[in-house]
Amino acid sequence: MDQRDRPLGVFDSGVGGFSVVQRLRSLLPDESIIYLGDTARVPYGTKSKETVLRYALESTRFLKSQGIKLLVIACNTASSMARDELLNSCEFPVIDVVEPGARFACAVSQFGRIGVIGTYATCKMKTYSQLISKLNPSFKVFEHPCPLFVPLVEEGWVQGEVPKLIAKKYLTPLVPKKIDTLILGCTHYPLLKPIIQEVITELTEREIFIVDSAEAIASQVKATLMAKDLIKSKGNNFFKAYVTDLSAHFKTLGKTFLKEEFFEIKKVSIDSL
Ligand code: DGL
Repeated sequence: MDQRDRPLGVFDSGVGGFSVVQRLRSLLPDESIIYLGDTARVPYGTKSKETVLRYALESTRFLKSQGIKLLVIACNTASSMARDELLNSCEFPVIDVVEPGARFACAVSQFGRIGVIGTYATCKMKTYSQLISKLNPSFKVFEHPCPLFVPLVEEGWVQGEVPKLIAKKYLTPLVPKKIDTLILGCTHYPLLKPIIQEVITELTEREIFIVDSAEAIASQVKATLMAKDLIKSKGNNFFKAYVTDLSAHFKTLGKTFLKEEFFEIKKVSIDSL
């Protein structure tokens, strides 16, 4: 098979990576995509590095077995904890979600005061802070974990009073930091973007630029495919989603978030590969 006709492989702990898939499908409509959501083991953000690394390697092994041409780590937690190991174990390009988001934030930040919200694990690793200080040492980064956002999104509870109240509680500590840019450092969070945008504007009484890493990662994938001559020529394409646990709830949620009615979702076991 022509290398260019192979699918892109994308993985996350659950439904969050669909925010990346959505962007990939609009930016690269001819590409085929195989998605893996490790729904049996979500969340990753509260687990140790050793565990997240094992899960990430298992997801990668599964996607490799599907003959992918490029891997997207559509999970900030796995990007922070397993990026180097995944890069070393793959013979095709690997795009992580942290670097494109950090670069984009540096490009748009007006005063160099950047907030990052993510899981406990991502914030603890300080991956964004380290990367941004390399890109621009004068920038200040403030990382703040928002652990309840992931279960809210997995539950599909992305509107109304409850997520708004939780967002207020989490975002208030960022107000005195006088940030001008806020990175959504978890691929689940773009699904809560309207609430986050509303609350941060209300709290700061200013316009804060929200960086949705899903957008940045899709552009990075396109640039990499072009640079490596891996863009698919026109023709049939497909989108397949695999999960490690499949509930009726996930099917509904996936379809709502992807805004697509018909696509295949199958349950798969990856820890025995
Ligand atoms: N969506 C993931 C991230 O970007 C993981 C969330 C989780 O499983 O805790 O960090």
